[in-house]
Amino acid sequence: MNNILVTGGAGFIGSHTCLQLMNEGLNVCIIDSLINSSEKIINQIKLINEKEGIKKGKLFFRHGDLRNNDFINNVFLEFKRKKLPFDSVIHFAGLKAVEESIFNPLGYWEVNIISTINLLITMDKFDCNKLVFSSSATIYDPSKKIKYDEESPKRPINPYGNTKLTIEIFLQDLFLSSQNKWKIINLRYFNPVGAHPSGLIGENPKCTPTNLFPILLKVANGKKKELSIYGNDWPTKDGTCIRDYIHVMDLADAHIAALEFLNKASPQAKAINIGTGKGTSVLEIIKRFNKINSVNLPFKFVNRRKGDSAIVIADNKLALELLNWVPKRNIDDICLDSFKWSKYSL
Ligand SMILES: NC(=O)c1ccc[n+]([C@@H]2O[C@H](COP(=O)([O-])OP(=O)(O)OC[C@H]3O[C@@H](n4cnc5c(N)ncnc54)[C@H](O)[C@@H]3O)[C@@H](O)[C@H]2O)c1
Repeated sequence: MNNILVTGGAGFIGSHTCLQLMNEGLNVCIIDSLINSSEKIINQIKLINEKEGIKKGKLFFRHGDLRNNDFINNVFLEFKRKKLPFDSVIHFAGLKAVEESIFNPLGYWEVNIISTINLLITMDKFDCNKLVFSSSATIYDPSKKIKYDEESPKRPINPYGNTKLTIEIFLQDLFLSSQNKWKIINLRYFNPVGAHPSGLIGENPKCTPTNLFPILLKVANGKKKELSIYGNDWPTKDGTCIRDYIHVMDLADAHIAALEFLNKASPQAKAINIGTGKGTSVLEIIKRFNKINSVNLPFKFVNRRKGDSAIVIADNKLALELLNWVPKRNIDDICLDSFKWSKYSL
């Protein structure tokens, strides 16, 4: 495991993962269209690795879109000729905003599906058969459970979730077609939040965010008047929704662990939940955020959002067992690191 291709590596989760890969001494090539990120991030990743990294992997960036087959092919060819052929791929690239996907299913199916098919065709051509794919807890049936294990019923309720489940099915078909070849892990993330503790990289989407932290950080920095909390009558201890928030650095570490697992494993296609196994309500987040950052976030209660559920928590036993990985950061780290990052960036 020396040369890793990271699609969508300039994005939120990808940038933190690239940094951790370089800190392991691995060479990383990012492919990104920058549709939801900026090239500035590439320099920030290099800067943190130079300042803080004990091992220093190389970082390459190739700007382009995975929907362009020739482009992907040329990147694989270029690195093969450089004698740095890719041995694994982490595939983050895709569109990810749930609400946007409801209004633009064509765009979401086109980007998420075509990009993935093109990528896998090229991987196959270049005998690169190890893949970690960014899946999501949105593929589970939201009405069924509180705690979700990998076997929980699947029933995405929006086009974004449908594309993620479809890709998982596609990857399973691919593995079954040639069972001595593919090593695939679908990591199903729960709620990735936080930022690198340096404050140099974090979540800064170009699309309009609808998840809690990007909005909360805008309020904390005076860029938005108040935080809207969707419902105070959910069947939870304080009436607000409970989610499994995982620090993005823990999530990045899970990708390294997944690659290490695949290096030793026999060919397979497996899905693994990545969450902390603990739930935190919106009001609890606000309380911790205020305390640790000495601020006072204004908020108001508004109606519930369609499609939300009261409690979504990962059963993360499989990740703990198989990946030799444990989440190390807590809610206070999440609040501290994300606020630090937002003060420089928003
Ligand atoms: N952030 C979350 O809450 C969350 C939760 C579950 C799953 N995921 C999945 O994890 C992955 C990464 O999420 P993120 O939060 O870092 O998102 P992000 O938008 O910050 O990063 C995705 C990156 O992919 C790039 N990209 C998009 N389409 C592309 C294409 N066709 N070709 C090349 N690059 C392209 C974007 O420019 C962006 O830099 C996504 O696949 C997302 O669906 C995210």
